[in-house]
Amino acid sequence: MSKKNFKRYTVTSALPYANGPLHIGHLAGCYVPADIYVRYLRSQGRDVAFICGSDEHGVAITIKAQKEGKTPQQVVDHYHEMMKKSFQEFGISFDHYSRTSAQIHHETAQGFFKDLYEKGEFLEQTTEQYFDEEAVQFLADRYIEGTCPKCGNEHAYGDQCERCGTSLSPTELINPKSKLSGRTPVLKETKHWFLDLARYQEFLKQWILVDHADDWKNNVLGQCRSWLEAGDGLQARSMTRDLDWGIKVPLQDAEGKVLYVWFDAPIGYISSTKEWAAEKGIDWKPYWKDEDTKLVHFIGKDNIVFHCIIFPAILKTHGGYVLPENVPANEFLNLEGDKISTSRNWAVWLHEYLQEFPGKEDVLRYVLTANAPETKDNDFTWKDFQGRNNSELVAIYGNFVNRAVVLTHKFFNGIVPDRGELRGIDKEVLEELAGFPEKISASIERYRFREALGLVMDLARMGNKYLADTEPWKEIKTDEARTKTILNIALNIAANLAIVSEPFLPHTAKKLFDLFGMENPNWADSGNGELIRANRALGPMGLLFEKIEDETVEKQVQKLLDSKKMNEAANTPVTPMKEIITYDDFAKLDMRVVTVLEAERMPKSKKLLKLKVDIGLGHRTVLSGVAEHFEPEFLVGKQVTMLINLAPRKMMGIDSEGMILMAEDKDGKLKLLVPHEGTASGSTIS
Ligand code: MF3
Ligand code: ZN
Repeated sequence: MSKKNFKRYTVTSALPYANGPLHIGHLAGCYVPADIYVRYLRSQGRDVAFICGSDEHGVAITIKAQKEGKTPQQVVDHYHEMMKKSFQEFGISFDHYSRTSAQIHHETAQGFFKDLYEKGEFLEQTTEQYFDEEAVQFLADRYIEGTCPKCGNEHAYGDQCERCGTSLSPTELINPKSKLSGRTPVLKETKHWFLDLARYQEFLKQWILVDHADDWKNNVLGQCRSWLEAGDGLQARSMTRDLDWGIKVPLQDAEGKVLYVWFDAPIGYISSTKEWAAEKGIDWKPYWKDEDTKLVHFIGKDNIVFHCIIFPAILKTHGGYVLPENVPANEFLNLEGDKISTSRNWAVWLHEYLQEFPGKEDVLRYVLTANAPETKDNDFTWKDFQGRNNSELVAIYGNFVNRAVVLTHKFFNGIVPDRGELRGIDKEVLEELAGFPEKISASIERYRFREALGLVMDLARMGNKYLADTEPWKEIKTDEARTKTILNIALNIAANLAIVSEPFLPHTAKKLFDLFGMENPNWADSGNGELIRANRALGPMGLLFEKIEDETVEKQVQKLLDSKKMNEAANTPVTPMKEIITYDDFAKLDMRVVTVLEAERMPKSKKLLKLKVDIGLGHRTVLSGVAEHFEPEFLVGKQVTMLINLAPRKMMGIDSEGMILMAEDKDGKLKLLVPHEGTASGSTIS
């Protein structure tokens, strides 16, 4: 357990893959929590670098490029800008947002690789890897899919099963299939450089399971334990790949090889810090190398092994770098009871939310924090979103601030009134107010943001209750001085609320800071009942929160249901297409609209009906295998379609002179093809 006093903070959020837009799962997982933490630290005047950027390498990118028919570069350029913009609009206050395609990152990552190589840390091994003979390519990571040996998920990737979180190597997959051609791959020899994690096992065990046993989150310790205490110990992991998109392996004999994306991406935190410092004209090194720097990685649970085991092993071996003090990983956020999925379009996309709920960035931040998956997976529902907006943000926070401000305008022309003698209830509320910041701090410092936000709302509740108990709207009729005292105190509670809620609701807090004319408000000011002095004029206040109607959230739910339907339709397999034919082939078929004149069952046949039809050129007899689908009476008098020039075939002693056409779905269900009403029998079909 570390109790050091740190001089500066390097806070990182996982670099998101630049292969698609951001959704609420991203925000809830590691961007909102990190932003809360960082805003809180800044409000305390601490020295912080909040670092992030786009993760632009790896198979996640090249697969997307292939799907969209674009180059990997086009894909990352597009999504890098889009993600950066969404983060900005939600107020995620990175000090720097870089990208791993930056030159400085290529150099930094290659530098790390060379350093480890020269120290002899890599095992150079030629092993058999899966190879797609049709695509002529080795199948790294997500290029290969198969069944997870642990949980049976049929769509586990070559590097990880997303369902059970197990990290895999491609050869462990059952029934592996290439993502490129869909074929079963073959094994082929190739040389790679492996990090021998067994060498760090003892160090990691001590550092995580002993030194940090008390201050890391249980879900994180649990995953680390299962790695570090596994019977066969940590396995060597290849840090290179056979791909043509990525950072070149900086060695002579490594043609066509790039660094493993999970080798280069975390180093991206360092490159991004370098870029930031260079722009500011300061030295980056203290942020990564000084012992009195506190390094904190915010991530989602699927990133735990990389941030707690592999990256620390790399940093430790390189030497001269601090290791993370904490890695507060969140679990997953689900959506309306189902796992969020980009490919199934089961997500709330941030760019769409921003368009459909303009000005409500804080509402989403609030809901995602109040319901954050801090200790277990949680579910986002639109009903809960609406409920928390209406009965918490509007009814508690907004209502309290509004009442204090509106009454001040009404009774005292918007001038903060002065305070007279204090009564018991005033003293109590001021005392309680003084205790809030420390409690909120304690929760934030322990990465319990839900709990911290709960306390912030308790402060707003306290304000509401104070107004309800003191009833200034009645008091004004008899005792103006008393009314002034009450509103002075209420406004001070509101100003305090602004400070302690700023990490969570930065847009809202900004409105309150403007209202109260608070410049450079900081955490140390809070808890103070005399923050806002009398005689100050309140500025204008925009609307803080507004009620969200049923209709609005119903529309969102409908949107999700629609996308589910579209997906199901797209995923319903239909009979594959037959081989291409020429027009001449087609023109040989003589298909006509015909009328069924008679229909009867064939004796001794379950399947066959004997039909007499009028084909416009006379009558024909046809045997049709539809007895299990239609009653004979149903068919009599119906117009249907028929192939009339099929060579006659004798069945059960009868010549069948053509074939009735039917629509057959993939399950073998038959439907008649009925022509438009009033089509003459004998009309040709083409
Ligand atoms: N791109 C990875 C993901 O989305 C996260 C990378 S985090 C970093 O899962 F450490 F590698 F940067
Ligand atoms: Zn699994």
